[in-house]
Amino acid sequence: MDLSIIGSGYVGLVTGACFADVGHNVICVDNDARKIEALQAGKIPIYEPGLEEVIHRNVSAHRLRFSGSIQEAVDNSQIVFIAVPTPQQASGDVDLSFIEKVAREIAGVLTDYRVIVDKSTVPVKTGEKVAESIKRYNRHGAKFDVVSNPEFLREGCAIGDLMHPDRIVIGAQSERAIDLMKKVYEPFMAPILVTDINSAELIKHAANSFLALKISYINAVSAICEASGADVEKVADGIGMDRRIGRNFLNAGIGYGGSCFPKDIAAFITISEQLGVPFNLLKEVQRINGLQKERFLKTIRETLWVLREKKVAIWGLTFKPDTDDIRSSVAIDLVADMLREGAHVTAYDPKGMEKAREVKAIAEVKFASSAMEAVEGAEALVIATEWSDFANVDLAIVKAKMTTPIIFDGRNLFDPETMRQLGFRYHSIGRATVAPR
Ligand code: UGA
Repeated sequence: MDLSIIGSGYVGLVTGACFADVGHNVICVDNDARKIEALQAGKIPIYEPGLEEVIHRNVSAHRLRFSGSIQEAVDNSQIVFIAVPTPQQASGDVDLSFIEKVAREIAGVLTDYRVIVDKSTVPVKTGEKVAESIKRYNRHGAKFDVVSNPEFLREGCAIGDLMHPDRIVIGAQSERAIDLMKKVYEPFMAPILVTDINSAELIKHAANSFLALKISYINAVSAICEASGADVEKVADGIGMDRRIGRNFLNAGIGYGGSCFPKDIAAFITISEQLGVPFNLLKEVQRINGLQKERFLKTIRETLWVLREKKVAIWGLTFKPDTDDIRSSVAIDLVADMLREGAHVTAYDPKGMEKAREVKAIAEVKFASSAMEAVEGAEALVIATEWSDFANVDLAIVKAKMTTPIIFDGRNLFDPETMRQLGFRYHSIGRATVAPR
């Protein structure tokens, strides 16, 4: 099929590449001319495992191309996907101006029937607005259908998530649009759920909120584990073995971050209030998430006594491993907090340092060229992102390099007993602190 994607950010680019990989002809559009030029020159603006290869393969096969023109996209595709950013405003409301602008631009060049699909994460009832807007600016009176088709990919494993989805959600009103959408997804051989547009939009917010709730739930349990001497990993295993609950997303840590959960939970709270049915449970999810970082910092402060002039190493700056994305990363907040308290912080991240260098709040941080260089002379090591590189280091060398072997592990990468035997004072999340006897 001939498809186009307006917006070549994370979702747009990965979706476009995977659509091409299953045999569709895809045009990825963006209004950032430099990004399009770079993509045309074979340069991929984000780090996502496997993405570069998929893009290059499909560009060479002439199934994938990049353009700055919405007109070109609309003229040459049966289905136009919208995958533009929907950032959070200070009020908690979602900024839908990019979607509105794209809808108007599509309407202006619409001459034949097209399916216009919203893939961006939006509050419920946005599809209705998109349809209204297209109708209003539809100069040629062309027929069209609006569809909601939320995306569930995770950064770091986006290609796998897209190629093997748990489900495809198609929110649509017309049979014609549903049939075309089913054809797009036929090669993926995944279960398809057809709903009305409002339900599809709500599924996305409700799914992300539920996952965030799961994380906050185990983080709240981790505090009780610390206070009682229980082990959160064992508790998560024990409750996760119940198939009704499941072990995924029960990893206690320093709280969720990234470009999705914090924004989507805030947006869901706001829309629920606007609809007159405030979703207060989600406020508690947010509160627990913030508290988790504060509890971690408190442990660091209490152990080191004074942070001022302490040499602290931090491993991990991205909001999760296998990405270079540092948006709403708790790791970055931790660095900013420690710098503010006068610590000398040296950071290392396998992919996130280039973007971190641009963050003003952590301008004083020193960047190391390896995990080992970061711990040289350190009085404490903070682990903020669970990159596999960190899990596989030689801990005896780490200990030898540190001035005082104290580790604050915000991701429970290591076994406490092993750490004790190696001679570390080792703090983790929801597990007893250990120290050499
Ligand atoms: C999330 C959802 O998982 C995707 O399904 C969704 O499509 C995406 O948002 C989106 O809306 O675009 P993503 O933010 O890329 O994906 O990454 P996740 O793997 O969900 O991790 C989010 C945060 O939760 C990270 O900071 C991670 O460290 C944290 N997390 C995750 C935990 O603290 N514990 C866990 O058990 C799982």
